[in-house]
Amino acid sequence: MKHDLKLHQLHRESPGNYDISFLDVKTARDIAAFHKSFPMYKATPFQPLSALAHQLGAKDILVKDESHRFGLNAFKVLGGSYAIGRVVADRLGEDLTRLPFERLVSDEIRDKLGSVTFVTATDGNHGRGVAWTANQLKQHSIVFMPRGAAEERVANIAAEGAKVSVEDCNYDEAVRMADDLAQKNGYVMVQDTAWEGYEDIPRWIMQGYMTMALEMENSLKAMKKKPTHLFVQAGVGSLAAAVTGFFANAYPGEDKPIITVVEPNVVDCIYRSAVANQRVLIGGEYFTIMAGLACGEPNTVGLKVLMDYADNFISVPDELAAYGMRVLGSPLPSDPQIISGESGAAPFGVVAKILADKNLAGMKEALGINRDSVLLFISTEGDTDRQGYRDIVWDGTYPSA
Ligand SMILES: Cc1ncc(COP(=O)(O)O)c(C=O)c1O
Repeated sequence: MKHDLKLHQLHRESPGNYDISFLDVKTARDIAAFHKSFPMYKATPFQPLSALAHQLGAKDILVKDESHRFGLNAFKVLGGSYAIGRVVADRLGEDLTRLPFERLVSDEIRDKLGSVTFVTATDGNHGRGVAWTANQLKQHSIVFMPRGAAEERVANIAAEGAKVSVEDCNYDEAVRMADDLAQKNGYVMVQDTAWEGYEDIPRWIMQGYMTMALEMENSLKAMKKKPTHLFVQAGVGSLAAAVTGFFANAYPGEDKPIITVVEPNVVDCIYRSAVANQRVLIGGEYFTIMAGLACGEPNTVGLKVLMDYADNFISVPDELAAYGMRVLGSPLPSDPQIISGESGAAPFGVVAKILADKNLAGMKEALGINRDSVLLFISTEGDTDRQGYRDIVWDGTYPSA
């Protein structure tokens, strides 16, 4: 097999000291209470793939299926909706606990706020979440997308009433365009990544993702299972940092599961930052099918969390994301089917391949996976680009063998 697959491990003596109290379990519970006030809220399924775990030599494989989130086919709305809730609460001098969904979207709040425009840049899912939330609030949104954005993802954002433009630039440049526009016009920039001087809203976004992590933790408790490994995909690393911080807080010390961050190998800024032990930026043009992970500049806050609390960094080729989509979409007979998009399936795909392919036994050993391992994955999106999904799953583009 000629996969360009790389693993970097941080063997640290003691856990890091970056302050992750903003990602603690109590905060997660408060934020989940906000999300639970949404009429479309329902915990997403956390699916055991027991037959596959047995076949691949692990105890459990559990996959959180975010294709069911709010009817939006991805987890991202958890971050945008919470951050926008916080912005509204701050503007009105209210506490968010007094702004459950029904009141947040009421005419009373619309009138008090006046007209607000939320701006963001996105590969698809975050922008849809921001546009959706703005639409619920009867407010405005402007969304910038990088070159190559899938038509369906553009259309879904426009369907929420957003002004969408696809720019001839990469994701990070689209973020700067959005920020420029917001600054010049007094709009509210709601970006799912942080940089120096812009960290409050991204922190809220990361905190918003904890609703999903808390659901996983509640399910694990109900199933009486203790996770040994958590695999999480990264673009800018906000999601990875949110779940890493949450699980490090929920399982302190020795109990913390081994956390592995997975990125596309053409734009693996967090992997490279871990190798260099400093924040590495990747610019220019690149292409990966993992559109949601196609980001070259790590979140400044998220990277600190990951450098201090994540254990492994894996950089993967597109074929392994495609492999994950196919395996999840056509499971063993007694396992449930999961429709997982390119960015959703990448960590699962690489681990399934490592466990199935004897040539990769060294990686399996390095990751410490054995018959007692309880492996957690997050399928962060469903088929958010249905044409791309079918090209891969039906037509077999990006073959893995
Ligand atoms: C489906 C999906 N998974 C994972 C991610 C990665 O999230 P982050 O950019 O916070 O690393 C994204 C980001 O857009 C995404 O859309």
